[in-house]
Amino acid sequence: MCGIVGYIGNREAYPVVLKGLKRLEYRGYDSAGLALIRDHQLEVFKKQGKVADLEETLVGINMHAHIAIGHTRWATHGEPSDVNAHPHTSPSGKIAIIHNGIIENYLPIKKELIAKGYAFKSETDTEVLLAFIEDIKSHNQCNLEEALRIALRRVVGAYCILLIDQDDPETIIAARKGSPLVIGIGKDEHFLASDASPIIEYTKEVVYVNDYEIAIVKKDELVLKNLGNEKQTPFITQLDLDLAAIEKGGYSHFMLKEIFDQPQTIHDCLRGRLDADTGQITLSGIQEYLDEIINAPRIIIIACGTSWHAGLVAEYIIEELCRIPVEVEYASEFRYRNPIIYKGDVIIAISQSGETADTIVAIEKAKGQGAIILGIVNVVGSTIARISHAGAYTHAGPEIGVASTKAFTGQLAVLMLMALKIGHAKNTIDEEKYILLCKELAKVPDKAAEILLQENSIKAIALKYKSAKDFLYLGRGYNFPIALEGALKLKEISYIHAEGYPAAEMKHGPIALVDEHLPIVFIATNDTFHAKIVSNMQEIKARKGKIISIITDGDEIAAELSDDVIAMPWMDEIFAPILNVIPLQLLAYFIGVENGHDVDKPRNLAKSVTVE
Ligand code: AGP
Repeated sequence: MCGIVGYIGNREAYPVVLKGLKRLEYRGYDSAGLALIRDHQLEVFKKQGKVADLEETLVGINMHAHIAIGHTRWATHGEPSDVNAHPHTSPSGKIAIIHNGIIENYLPIKKELIAKGYAFKSETDTEVLLAFIEDIKSHNQCNLEEALRIALRRVVGAYCILLIDQDDPETIIAARKGSPLVIGIGKDEHFLASDASPIIEYTKEVVYVNDYEIAIVKKDELVLKNLGNEKQTPFITQLDLDLAAIEKGGYSHFMLKEIFDQPQTIHDCLRGRLDADTGQITLSGIQEYLDEIINAPRIIIIACGTSWHAGLVAEYIIEELCRIPVEVEYASEFRYRNPIIYKGDVIIAISQSGETADTIVAIEKAKGQGAIILGIVNVVGSTIARISHAGAYTHAGPEIGVASTKAFTGQLAVLMLMALKIGHAKNTIDEEKYILLCKELAKVPDKAAEILLQENSIKAIALKYKSAKDFLYLGRGYNFPIALEGALKLKEISYIHAEGYPAAEMKHGPIALVDEHLPIVFIATNDTFHAKIVSNMQEIKARKGKIISIITDGDEIAAELSDDVIAMPWMDEIFAPILNVIPLQLLAYFIGVENGHDVDKPRNLAKSVTVE
């Protein structure tokens, strides 16, 4: 979704906002723009395309100002274009707005305004919102803050908006509902943004603005109010991450850096939580609800995209180790399917960003029906972290690449810790196996590092198949969700059509697709299902399919059947998914790069989907 940045203080605002937009560009890159006020004059600059395209058009232009707001867009209403780009200006030309979210009832409001003689330049809901605000301001003879409050009581949808007014050049007014807003507090300056990445190089002191709050921001003052015009006390928190975490660190892409971060990020996720020697697992975030979880009639996992795949792996592991029935739901379907929630049901909501709208509304639905909500989230302080009853962070650090990689393995690590802890507490795992599994899980970071040593051989396989038109990914049991994830990564990064399937399902239709032009990736590491998946490989071989296989080192039978092999260190089948996804991430990355795509900002995608 869109990226929002604002600055007010003594620094030159333009470079601060421009740099902030570049940090947030993974949120949307259909167009970029900014507005500033100098000498009581509002100036707006915007352009279709990336932030760099906008920056190019501003070379040589006087951008001096101490107040500015900026936006990078993921188009919802109106195609990517200069006129639909943000900021939008009000009919008087004095006020500028940037917006992340969707105003669902903008059409009836637009109709009313057109009936009053207003005309609109763009197709956006945002321009309508601003005209509505200015109409209230002039009609009610009130100030901008009051006009905004009145307008927001009528608005339906999600928003994070920033407003600047040339008649009040010392103030930025902001409001949020559903879309994230963080305010950084400096000395005689304030930074506003959709997440902390544009802020951390200036200050670690931040305020996460809550739903239905309005912020009135001056260089030396921050006032928070609710829509009832009552003052709210800002809750200041310290950011616990540093600049290096959001730099490429010498890698050519954030995605590659984040793939190579995984030995460390999985280690960070287990650190202080897993004591493999004693078998002690500490998950303080869920400890309070352990009894409820152990006695839960069922666990429902809700998530989207890659996080949903993590949930599917968890279904297999929790049912195996904890003997609690698990259902895995697409958040968007769950929300509108009118689901049956029983008292005591435990919901596990998985999200990297913690801001995915579909997952947030699904949580609110289940919470409203008495379910306990456990959040597994990567972004600290995000909405899902704050609206869940309890949960655990994945500690993967900022994930900038749109395709989720290290957050996914972090999610799996947390889910595996949870399953072990619950199974041990429920005595559904015998002590010997439990201790063994704890020791195996502790070995994952080193084995991940070992796998990454195969970067070049995986790149060679990618070069061989980079021009394929379609791919199939096949796995069984714990590896079936990894087949889905491998296919998703390839689709996202290389724009090649790919599907993941349970290997046994091939016979029921998809095998018709197989010929010598179709690469088929088998995730076939040693496990309970190995003999079965080897026969599936033989079925494909018999039809001349090209087999790329992820197998356990030394597995000659599977290697024999494969055109290309990626050998993995042995790992207990329960934890194998966390390792088996890594070569699939690299394969997608190299195929995307070799096909000349911007793998960090794939077309049509955004890092966190904050609208339904
Ligand atoms: C994954 O690579 C994609 N970026 C996307 O499918 C993502 O997993 C999905 O949008 C869910 O995001 P979340 O984990 O931040 O909720």
